[in-house]
Amino acid sequence: MSEPYDRSPKPISREPFTMDRSDPAFAGQSVYTPGALRAYDTVVVRLSNSLVWRCAARRILRQYNRHVTTSHLDVGPGTGYYLDRCRFPGTAPHLTLLDPNPDVLRFAGHRLRRYRPTSYAADVLKPVGLEPASYRSVALSYVLHCLPGDIRSKATVFDHLIPLVEPGGVVFGSTILNGGVRHTRLGRALLRVYNGKGIFSNLHDDLDGLEEELASRFGRYELEVSGAVALFAGWLEPPTQ
Ligand SMILES: C[S@@+](CC[C@H](N)C(=O)[O-])C[C@H]1O[C@@H](n2cnc3c(N)ncnc32)[C@H](O)[C@@H]1O
Repeated sequence: MSEPYDRSPKPISREPFTMDRSDPAFAGQSVYTPGALRAYDTVVVRLSNSLVWRCAARRILRQYNRHVTTSHLDVGPGTGYYLDRCRFPGTAPHLTLLDPNPDVLRFAGHRLRRYRPTSYAADVLKPVGLEPASYRSVALSYVLHCLPGDIRSKATVFDHLIPLVEPGGVVFGSTILNGGVRHTRLGRALLRVYNGKGIFSNLHDDLDGLEEELASRFGRYELEVSGAVALFAGWLEPPTQ
């Protein structure tokens, strides 16, 4: 049987993007080296998610299965674990991966090569130069807690992503919070360590703040908590008839 489309990964779509070391967002993305990415699925996806943050990977995978569409932008894909395992509602999804870290784009791009994803090197804290209204779903899984600032300032990422979404489309994701959720003692200790290293910046992120930011931007939104993790989805108003 012939292949429905070329399975080779598409090249990174822009001139190499390098985040300056002095950028406050630098540490939140530079930790994902090739070695860290090889360990990520075991250490973070399987172990930390269940044991430390108490939001099992299958819970996040369920969120993907519910919201992902065949026209999808994934911000901060990491290893591409969820995109590799989720069920797209069609056979040949149009998939874009956005991340400032070229190792992430290479790793996830290779894993997902059967979908021929487009890789886009960029910082989501800055306006994103992708085509307006060209995606029906955008995911931000475990990205907000890596971004510097408090929940109010980092929520500007929604302002950068919303213009890329078609009317009726969805922005969804998950993030580890500090306030308004319950942490284990180990979780609190790790939160302090990761914030000290700049890998996480979520000491000022709380559930009420996240809800305010969603409510001020989306006509309809959902927000759920699993352990120390908030899972959210916000919809853009569908076109008026
Ligand atoms: C904790 S990993 C999450 C990986 C995967 N989405 C998951 O849910 O397991 C955070 C991801 O966000 C990316 N990231 C960090 N800072 C970013 C930024 N300023 N703009 C876009 N992506 C960023 C990292 O490079 C990494 O791919």
